[in-house]
Amino acid sequence: MIITEFDQSLFLAEYWQKKPCVIRGFIKSFVDPIDEHELAGLAQEPDIDSRIVSYSNQQWIATQGPIEDFEELCVGAWSLLVQGVDRYIDEVDELTDLVNFIPNWRLDDVMISFSNEGAGVGPHTDQYDVFIIQGKGKRRWQVGLPGDYAESIPHPLLRQIDGFEAVIDEVLLPGDVVYIPPKHPHNGVALSDCLNYSIGFRAPTSLEMLSGLIDENRIEPAESLRYTDPDISRLRNTKDKNTNNSSAVSSNEIQKIKQLLQAFLDSESADNALLQFLSRQSLPSDEALNADYDSDEIKAALLEGATLARMTGVKPVYAQEQSNEQFIFYIDGNEFKASKTLRAVLELMLNVKEVRIGEGSDTSVDVSVLEQPDFIALVMQLVNLGYWVLLD
Ligand code: SIN
Ligand code: CO
Repeated sequence: MIITEFDQSLFLAEYWQKKPCVIRGFIKSFVDPIDEHELAGLAQEPDIDSRIVSYSNQQWIATQGPIEDFEELCVGAWSLLVQGVDRYIDEVDELTDLVNFIPNWRLDDVMISFSNEGAGVGPHTDQYDVFIIQGKGKRRWQVGLPGDYAESIPHPLLRQIDGFEAVIDEVLLPGDVVYIPPKHPHNGVALSDCLNYSIGFRAPTSLEMLSGLIDENRIEPAESLRYTDPDISRLRNTKDKNTNNSSAVSSNEIQKIKQLLQAFLDSESADNALLQFLSRQSLPSDEALNADYDSDEIKAALLEGATLARMTGVKPVYAQEQSNEQFIFYIDGNEFKASKTLRAVLELMLNVKEVRIGEGSDTSVDVSVLEQPDFIALVMQLVNLGYWVLLD
């Protein structure tokens, strides 16, 4: 369970969703992209989810942000935890590239914690997979196997378990990673002031996906499939005319309803609604990012060699197999369509951070694309919405 030479295929086959492991030296010469002071600054923002967890005088206390008075809360052994930092700091967003063998739609966020010596959030389990990168400092990580653990709630905002037998018990150094699959108990205790970067993944339940799909679906009720039952006698087996069982629903009827739901699930409209749902990531809505370029300005900037850079935290989603005339992709619940002839260019833009128009590298696109008005129009839309920026 200790990997010294990371091999992506081996990791996916042997560990992902199956077994925890420590990956030594996953990032060579790791440099923290943030420090605890910047982290504390983020924890003061009302739109950013943060908390402080402390253990002092044998008492656990958890306080939800925004944090105003750090001195009052940072007592004993304490950790400051900030969610979704990848949406605000580019270098933190770039950490997600290290695990881009897992698709965007599975990604949740990067949570960063700062802990002083002896601190942690206590032993617990999570529902999600997580890669925890060790930043500065040292932390002892213990990880166990799934089991029926007694839960304890030492504070209303803290869920812990009473204890577990560790199958991993290692001290992580900067650049090391511990991978923890869902439901595996774990406990991290800082051995010195330390920073940890948790790249977390989500796995919606079938009900969450179904309700997401319904929320996103834009087909009018009139167009959607409606239940019909001209074959009602067969469905309800109403041979005995004298027996009133009008309250009953037959298994044939249930079956027919399920077939109708399946027909909806099989429709293209459901595929698109599902992709739209999977693309949702609650990006910050920063008005300052919204630009107002016209198409001539976009074309001129690209002709002059501007780089098209995807904004911090933006994680597009699209169907790998597309048979329509248009290429469709989604960003945070917004749908974008373009001519299929632009597919190769768009796939590059959606999958790599920066694209240049011109010649030279794997991430450059032929200048002829600037002659396609729908490419310029789409870039203008993406830049004006703040999903891409033009860098000189
Ligand atoms: C932490 O970084 O302190 C907590 C990470 C976790 O255990 O999920
Ligand atoms: Co955890």
